[in-house]
Formats: sequence, C-alpha cells, structure tokens
Amino acid sequence: MEPLYRVQGGGPLRGDVGASGAKNAALPCLAATLLTAEPCTIRNLPDIADVGGLLAILSQLGAEVDHDPAAHRVTVRAAGPLAEAPPDQLVGNQRASFLVMGPLLAREGRGACAAPGGDLIGQRPLDVHLRGFRALGADVRTEAGRFVASGRLRGARMVLDYPSVLGTENLMLAAVRAEGETVIVNAAAEPEVAALADLLCAMGARIRGAGSHTITVTGVAALHGADYTLIPDRIEAGTFAVAAAITGGDVRIHDVRPRHLEALLSKLREIGVEIDEDDEALRVRRRGPLQATTAQAVPYPGLATDLQALVTTLLTQAEGVSTVNERVFENRLGYVAELRKMGARIVTAGSAAIVQGPTPLHGAVVQGLDVRASAALVVAALVADGETELRDVVHLERGYEDFGEKLRGLGAVIERRGVAPETPRA
Ligand code: EPU
Repeated sequence: MEPLYRVQGGGPLRGDVGASGAKNAALPCLAATLLTAEPCTIRNLPDIADVGGLLAILSQLGAEVDHDPAAHRVTVRAAGPLAEAPPDQLVGNQRASFLVMGPLLAREGRGACAAPGGDLIGQRPLDVHLRGFRALGADVRTEAGRFVASGRLRGARMVLDYPSVLGTENLMLAAVRAEGETVIVNAAAEPEVAALADLLCAMGARIRGAGSHTITVTGVAALHGADYTLIPDRIEAGTFAVAAAITGGDVRIHDVRPRHLEALLSKLREIGVEIDEDDEALRVRRRGPLQATTAQAVPYPGLATDLQALVTTLLTQAEGVSTVNERVFENRLGYVAELRKMGARIVTAGSAAIVQGPTPLHGAVVQGLDVRASAALVVAALVADGETELRDVVHLERGYEDFGEKLRGLGAVIERRGVAPETPRA
C-alpha cells in the first residue's frame, strides 16, 4: 500500500517543537564533501529521503559514506578516484543531484550528470549553472543525454541572469578550486548559500560575501576535511508557525533562526498572529481573527516560494480577499485545486492565487504534488471538519523529518499508513 496520511481536523496546536537541520543546506554541503580526499563530517543532518538519495549518489561516485541517521550525522570520505557521473536513475529523483557537477569539474577536471528530476513546479532550466561553468573556462556539451563539463577552471567575473540558488551553489563549488578570483554578481542570497560557504571556508576555501548578492571566491589548490553543523530548516520552522496560526494555537518552536524567517514573521504579524522571538526560538500564538492581505513569493530575503502554499492556506481563514503572487516558479499553484476539494474558495489568475476567506474547510482525499504543497495540505487538514487523506506522501517525506510525529507532539490527530518505497540509502 502506498503510504498516506490520515488527518482529523481538531483543536489548537500547543506545545514545543524543534526544527531539524535544513534540507536545502544539507544537499549542497553533501556535494561539497566531494571536493576533498579527506573525511568531512556533517552534523544536524535531517533524516529525510532527499538526503538518502544524495548520499546514495556520493557512494555511487566512489565516496565512503558512514551515515548514522539516528544521530543525524554523516562522515563522507571521497578519497578517489571518483566516477565521472552519477547513475542516471538516481539523478532523476531530485534536482540537487546536479550539484555534483561543480565539485567533479573542480576536482577531476571533468564532470557529467543527466538532467535532474525533482518537483513538478514548472520549467527548471540549468542555463545559470552551464553558463557559469563556461565563464570559468569549461567546455560544456551534451553527450548521450548527459551534460558534460570539462577543462581547467580559471576565475572569472560573471553576472547571473537570475539569482538561482542551486546555480549559485554549483558555481561556488566549481570556483573554490579554480585558479584566481571569481566574482558572482546577482548571486542567490539565501541562508543555505551562506551555509555552504561556511562549510567550504571550514574546508580551506576563500569566499567573501556569501549571503549577499555578490560573492567573491579566491581559488585554492586543495581543500581539507571539516566538521560542520547544519543550520536549522527555516521552511520547516515556518511550516510549524503557520500550523500554529491556522489552528489558533500556541506553539514554541526551538532550534530556529528567526532572522532567516523575517519575511514570513512580518507577514504573520500583519495579519494578526502574535509572535515572540529570541535568537533561537519563536512563540507563535493566535487569539483573534486573521485579516486578509497581499503577499509575493520572491528570492531571499523576501517571502520564500517554499512558504507560498502555506501562506495561501492560512489566508483561507483570514477575513476578506487576499492575493498571493508566486514570482519564482512558473507553475507552483497546483495545490490550489486540492485545497478547493477541501472547500477553499481560491481562484488562480496567472501566477496569482486569489483567496476568499474565512472559509470553513472539510476533509477530502487530496494529492501531495510537491514537498511544500503536501505540507500545506496537512496544515489545511488540521482545521478541516472531518478526515483528510493525503496521498503521495513520498513528496512530503523527501523534505520533512518525522512530520506526522512532530505534529502529533503538538496535539494533532494524524496517522501514517502504508510502507514507503525503498529510499536509496548509502
Ligand atoms: N532558473 C533559471 N535558470 C537556471 C536555474 C533556475 O532560469 O539555470 C529559474 C527557475 O526556472 C526558477 C527560478 O530560477 O524560476 C528559481 O530557481 P532556483 O534555481 O533558485 O531554484 P533551485 O535552486 O532549483 C532551490 C531549492 C527549492 C527552492 C528554490 C527557490 C534546493 C535543493 N531547492 O531550488 O526548494 O524552492 O531554490 O528558493 O535548494 C524545496 O525545498 O521544496 C524546493 C523546491
């Protein structure tokens, strides 16, 4: 039986919950371990399917992987020699697989990778990555359905057409061992990019400006091993904040960096949610009605596209008409049709969702289309009348560790049925 979640709508969530290590920091940091022959240890590693998938790729490339999921720790030793390309079928599972290109190219002078898979949220081109590799002096072509990049890398100044997160990360991963200085202008400024730079610097790289839109990398001849602890997952923490708000609850979220969630917290306060914060924790409460608003999903430090479906879901319970614009991906409103099955009054117009609230929601059978859309549907189900069945939870489990269990700890009535398909484990 395909795994699914059954959620009973109920009362307010209350209690304490912690965020796991950030998925989108874990994946580039795992790719970075390929840059040195010495062991690298990554801690606070979330136990999620996407991490298992990338570890399987590292192991197929020839790295030794010592993974202790319960301890949230992995040690990777890529002593070499490394294979030229990861197996195509593993690459198909997630977008971040393409991050092995930068390190392979930097270390071996040649890297190859099939077109990566991932969420169905619109076209996801790779031109930023490929143009950047070319700017660094690589020859980039396609051979037998794979992208191949080869050549000796030399530092260069480049202006990205779009501040792509994985694109910026792949170019940093390639540039750290290039000869001379690379300047990446219009780089992505997400905290996960800065986290990757922190790990790379701990490995001996020289990087300035990560976390801003201009990143300078001075190439070094070799990198060494490191021991690095991942930042907390801001999107997971944001998910619990929205869950607390929609249920009219009172939840303390620990292991979070509130500064990484500034746009969400400011939007939540604007619509009537009470939030107290200190350096590593948040208290999210809602005692009164919510007010409609407008919101836009844009690159960091604006509201994250990964929180867009959650914000729209919350606004189904706000008084008035809200508009939420998705400005990062061309097709990330597919979940709206599922929310409508639960009674939400939402229409889409191009990249905007127009939400009429407040609307009582009811249980339904719904499909999780991607990681974040699935989380939003579970959050909607927490306030729906009756039972919601979420199908296709493989997507949810790619990105959230113990999601059902953590929500149950806050008083949600949620059960998981079925057996997950085998996750590639290293
Ligand atoms: N884009 C290009 N050319 C490129 C690359 C991207 O035009 O070469 C465009 C895309 O088409 C899209 C926009 O740039 O319209 C943003 O894409 P970006 O490359 O920034 O996204 P990504 O790096 O593929 C990461 C996260 C996503 C998150 C986005 C945006 C990881 C593994 N994935 O994807 O996370 O939504 O950044 O912040 O870091 C998730 O966690 O569920 C998830 C989808």
